Amino acid sequence: MAINKRILLGISGGIAAYKSAELVRLLRKQGAEVRVVMTQSAMEFISPLTFQALSGNPVHSELLNADAENAMGHINLARWADLLIIAPATANLIAKLSHGLADDLLSTLYLAATCPVHIAPAMNKAMWAKAVTRENIDKLQRHGITILGPEQGDQACGETGFGRMSEPVDICRHLLQALEFQNSSRLKGLKVLISAGPTREPLDPVRYITNRSSGKMGYALANAALKAGAEVTLISGPVILTAPANIEVVKVETAAQMYEAVISRAPDQAIYIGAAAVADYSPAIMQPEKIKKQDEQTMIILQKTRDILAEVAKLDKRPFTVGFAAETHKLEAYARDKLTRKKLDMIAANWVGRELGGFDSEQNALQVFWKNGQKNLAMTGKEQLAEQLIDLIAERLQE
Ligand code: C5P
Repeated sequence: MAINKRILLGISGGIAAYKSAELVRLLRKQGAEVRVVMTQSAMEFISPLTFQALSGNPVHSELLNADAENAMGHINLARWADLLIIAPATANLIAKLSHGLADDLLSTLYLAATCPVHIAPAMNKAMWAKAVTRENIDKLQRHGITILGPEQGDQACGETGFGRMSEPVDICRHLLQALEFQNSSRLKGLKVLISAGPTREPLDPVRYITNRSSGKMGYALANAALKAGAEVTLISGPVILTAPANIEVVKVETAAQMYEAVISRAPDQAIYIGAAAVADYSPAIMQPEKIKKQDEQTMIILQKTRDILAEVAKLDKRPFTVGFAAETHKLEAYARDKLTRKKLDMIAANWVGRELGGFDSEQNALQVFWKNGQKNLAMTGKEQLAEQLIDLIAERLQE
């Protein structure tokens, strides 16, 4: 597939800058037009000549250069781009972006850019793990930037851990998918309601029963729906994730609260995706005081919770309803059973308990079923997977 897109590649000063030469080559091979912006320190690692030769365009590096600004000023350069990818993105650059500093061409371009922005961080593992870097990354994610990697492995500094820039071929594949997806605007103007994360069912004021769920898949789906042009509401159980500012987030704790939040909004929605790991049972009695330990064994009486997904599907004015099924065996049989029993339009099933992804993992694979069909979505990052699932939902919705 040839892409007829304009990609602005920002390069900041890390040893991984040499990998970006390969990225330019791959993107151009796919038909993209590439322009390169380098920071001063990036040019200490690799010559702009390399990028000029590979991209076929002059390299931009200065903000306050009258000649360069006449050729293509920074605002025009930002307007020119269909997508901005910064690879490698150093800890320093990430800190600058997250604070809105604009003291060189690349950081100024980021502020001026209205197109989607993706960054591929690369740094020493301790720098990546540092609290301030984590906060900066969180903030950029909230601002709608897509973070690619970093990967785990050997580092130039001689250490091993998270911090290696993703491989050019993976970045290229991701960007192509993002561009294709961004182009589609398949859910433009539609309202999408998504539930995500676990619920907590209190036993007493300090203890609760819950499910293992990071909420990553639900948040990735909310992001993907937003990128596809939808108006997104996310009903979220307790997770440590943050959603972009333009998604309405309703925070809940218990299955009963999630039920109320979903059911009261569902009739207005075009699509409901139940990605939450809702507790199936909740303690029949919530003890008002902390339960004391006494006997060797004790009992907790549990009461079934309401099945939010099935109730949404039963509504007179129901959205296109999509469920999830996490199974340890007989995946297709159980998923298809849920599809018909809960009267869903679609179900996305995944294996759990096989060290294959799911739960807390960054990656997952899905087998998606609907009445007369199915599609397998191969193991990949949850963000990419979410975009593929949103594409599939949009396709089925049209039919
Ligand atoms: O039947 P099972 O719990 O395996 O079905 C999983 C699907 O049902 C998920 O989409 C989950 O969000 C949804 N569900 C729900 N309310 C419940 C239990 C599960 O919406 N009480």
